[in-house]
Amino acid sequence: MNPSQKLRKLVAEGYQLTPEAFSFLNSLEDIDSVIDRILSSGTSKLILSIDDIKDIIKKEENIEVTAEIDELDKEKMKIDEQEKKETISQTSVSEEVENDVVIEEQPLQTKEEEHQTSVRKEQVSSDLKVIYSPKVTQTVASAESFRQYFKNRFEVINSYFSKRRDIKNRVSTSDLEPNKNRDNVSLVAIVTKIQNTRKGNVIIELEDLEGTVISLIHVSKPDLVQSSQFILEDSVLCFVGSWRNKLLNINEVLWPDIPYTHKPNYSYEEVLALHISDIHVGSKNFAGKLFHKAINLINGTLQDEKYNKVGEKIKYLFVAGDVVDGIGVYPGQKDDLMLDNIQLQYHLATEYFDQIRKDVEIVIIPGNHDGARSAEPQTPIQKEFAQNLFELDNVHLLGSPCYLKAHNVEIMLNHGNSILDINAAIPAIPHETSIPAMREMLKNRHLVPIYGKRTPIAPTPTDELIISRIPDIFHTGHTHIAGDDRYKGVLLLNSGTFQYQTSYQKSMNINPTTGLTYIVNLKNLERSKINFNEIN
Ligand SMILES: [Fe+2]
Repeated sequence: MNPSQKLRKLVAEGYQLTPEAFSFLNSLEDIDSVIDRILSSGTSKLILSIDDIKDIIKKEENIEVTAEIDELDKEKMKIDEQEKKETISQTSVSEEVENDVVIEEQPLQTKEEEHQTSVRKEQVSSDLKVIYSPKVTQTVASAESFRQYFKNRFEVINSYFSKRRDIKNRVSTSDLEPNKNRDNVSLVAIVTKIQNTRKGNVIIELEDLEGTVISLIHVSKPDLVQSSQFILEDSVLCFVGSWRNKLLNINEVLWPDIPYTHKPNYSYEEVLALHISDIHVGSKNFAGKLFHKAINLINGTLQDEKYNKVGEKIKYLFVAGDVVDGIGVYPGQKDDLMLDNIQLQYHLATEYFDQIRKDVEIVIIPGNHDGARSAEPQTPIQKEFAQNLFELDNVHLLGSPCYLKAHNVEIMLNHGNSILDINAAIPAIPHETSIPAMREMLKNRHLVPIYGKRTPIAPTPTDELIISRIPDIFHTGHTHIAGDDRYKGVLLLNSGTFQYQTSYQKSMNINPTTGLTYIVNLKNLERSKINFNEIN
């Protein structure tokens, strides 16, 4: 075993190292034997500092004599074992047959299942296609680039409305002349401002490529007033109403949405996908033991055989961002870090991913904590931060959002940076949820419908945040709150986290669902909740 493999073993046992301890270990000539000593020390500490390692070495030296005695005992046992074997080889034929019978007494079913598993592993080959992932491009955040960006947003979503037969009397703002009243017109426009008046009316400012108009939802239409709380600024919607006295009186609001006719795609064979996110390696609150259970599940090495049988069928691991905790993501983050160097964070994360069996395809997109462009669309994690991760053949580092096809099932991955902006903008959505905001993204056909809040947007020439393809699975993370639902045939998943509650989350009364996530059977798109806290 080379030093890297030894370090991996240390990580596999649930230990983590401070950056200093990591450098110290790497500087040792006898790193192998020191790691062995740590592993055999039985220390209850999971985060090891240099002092911890030195203590272990010292303790080991003190008990050297005892170890030598143990060694002698082991040698003696080996000799005894050898003598026993020699005795067995001299036994009669009938005893050998008896020995064979003992082997045959292994449950037949287990042997068959073992055979099936090995056959299955050979038969299920990967079928993964990347449909879209953001390319690394330079964007200049100028007034003109944002004008171009929003123009494209309007044009693309307007084209979705153009295909709908339920929309009659389409007009643009230039058709709405001051002295010419018109009934039952449909205007597709971008919402530039929305506000509620003291009397309970809702004023919405609208803009299209021709100009701007003011529209009104009158207080006498309570259902419409109620649904107006779901109208997000900067989204492109269709407003149906009457044009009177320079005001569009709204009778109906239509969202671009996804059609009811959407029929999900299914895999042609049974194959499972594990969906995870927000691992936050490098954080003091990283739940390493729970994450290691997820790896054991995939590898079929959990104590619980029932789960191992499930794990063997996992072909895909989707990671929806925040692989590491990163550096300088929020004020005072340094105090929450176990590793305050992003390269070391990815080094440790790679040690985990490298333990996963190599026939599993691992797709990783970035989150706001990762070493990637923070503005959406996020480009893939940069090689300069995660060199080792790039060297794993079964790891695919893509941007956010990305669209994939795995075993014929279309999956849209996005970290979900804008979920909290949407939750804050819509009073009807509880703060500690993920799924309602994901539903709004699909309704708006946009992953970051609101501009100018906490989710930065890179003004790419075309709006790559428009949900241009209807996925079968829409997977996000970010909130650290797992959730699942189905919306018009699309399976919505938020895969929670492998990080325990941080002091910041505690102050915000956010209770993460640590170690709780989902497995999806791609053959029928049925999801199963899996709680690693309850698995041995
Ligand atoms: Fe996160």
